[in-house]
Amino acid sequence: MRVGILTGGGDCPGLNAVIRGIVHAAGEGYETYGILNGWKGMLTKEMIKLDNDDVEGIHILGGTILGTARVNPFKDEESRQLLEKNFKEMKLDALIAIGGDDTLSVAARLSSLGYPVIGVPKTIDNDVSNTDYTFGFHTAVNVGADAIDRLHSTAKSHQRVMIVELMGREAGWITIEAGMAAGAHLILIPEFPMTINEIVNYVNKRMQEKKYMIIAVAEGFKPTELEQVVADKSTIDAFGHIRLGGIAHYLAEIIEQKTGYETRSVVLGHLLRGGTPTAFDRILGTRYGVEAMNLVKEKDFGRMVALKGNQIVSIPLEYGVATKKLVPFEYYKLAQLFFD
Ligand code: F6P
Repeated sequence: MRVGILTGGGDCPGLNAVIRGIVHAAGEGYETYGILNGWKGMLTKEMIKLDNDDVEGIHILGGTILGTARVNPFKDEESRQLLEKNFKEMKLDALIAIGGDDTLSVAARLSSLGYPVIGVPKTIDNDVSNTDYTFGFHTAVNVGADAIDRLHSTAKSHQRVMIVELMGREAGWITIEAGMAAGAHLILIPEFPMTINEIVNYVNKRMQEKKYMIIAVAEGFKPTELEQVVADKSTIDAFGHIRLGGIAHYLAEIIEQKTGYETRSVVLGHLLRGGTPTAFDRILGTRYGVEAMNLVKEKDFGRMVALKGNQIVSIPLEYGVATKKLVPFEYYKLAQLFFD
């Protein structure tokens, strides 16, 4: 039986652990093939055979040995037809797609057309529904927390406001967890907008009392009155997010202007998802990979592996892509206890 593996969307620490897990779990009677560069590889028919020797030691490496791309073959009819044609010509008996909501939604559509597909949820954002954790998130939180830890001493020495921006367009998981772990004094996430005045009040209070401040902000955070305060609408993208320079730069300017306190901004961006995965993400990726291969062996297609508590389970693929898993109010309330 020929099993294809592809990694789609943004790269993410732990992807290689999943690939290695699948290949090792394959065993007798199963051949594993890596499709190159996500769904793009299905359109160009680029694949390589993968044996245990090919995946030796890769679980400690960041990125993906297969390459990735943000390509959606369902976006036009021609690509969809090519995808279906190539699936047959590549003689794949099963396909394991590892990705976030975009990649998984392609997998779900293929599955609904009758193709034997399994999904593995991946994203540093941790916003895939119906799984407690996606691998890569733990690594991103650790990198973020370490960066914020380091900002305390420089902010304190200079008596500055320091704004650190972390990834997360719609979900604030990385920001809230890294912020809480490293003791940020204010955490701003897309799920819970705040007005500029509220932010300024926090800054004034903290700076008067403690003389320095760290603000963790998610890239998708938008101050409540953004539309009014930004005169030039071209600075806002289609999602209503700040386009030029990012939200941290924007907030730094406005806070310094309104409070008079010296303010600096740092954007962590892709640093959060580069490099080696934490032990947690290596193990989670490995467990996901092994379970995905088990599902192939059971011919239990149209499923996505997921973590529930400490158990690896499987759920219908479409459950994972139905909605985004956002930070709930109770969790934000916990973080708010430390806004001071
Ligand atoms: O989905 C993962 C992610 O890292 C998001 O946190 C971020 O918004 C996005 O990808 C960045 O995408 P790109 O690497 O294409 O700029």
